[in-house]
Amino acid sequence: MPPPEAGTGPAEFTITVDGDPVPVRAGQTVAAALLAAGRRTTRRTRFADRPRGVFCGIGICFDCLVVCNGEPGVRACLRPAAPGDTVDTQRGAGEVTP
Ligand code: FES
Repeated sequence: MPPPEAGTGPAEFTITVDGDPVPVRAGQTVAAALLAAGRRTTRRTRFADRPRGVFCGIGICFDCLVVCNGEPGVRACLRPAAPGDTVDTQRGAGEVTP
């Protein structure tokens, strides 16, 4: 039996995003889990406080930055989600959005 494709099948665990549980399926990145949960904003811009989210999906644009386990500037599209991860919307260069 072939392994399931990434992002399919039942949720295997949850991560915490801005204080809320978000289900994660096998092989999903943080960005994929956020999008599957209907969360499109990963960060807010430094000066205009505008929402940004996944744009390229391949680690080039840096629009998907999040604070992951207290570390700012993590590209959600490249970071595999792991059990127990705590993800927060990033504001500017690394502050957490209240
Ligand atoms: S979406 Fe472009 S770096 Fe993540």
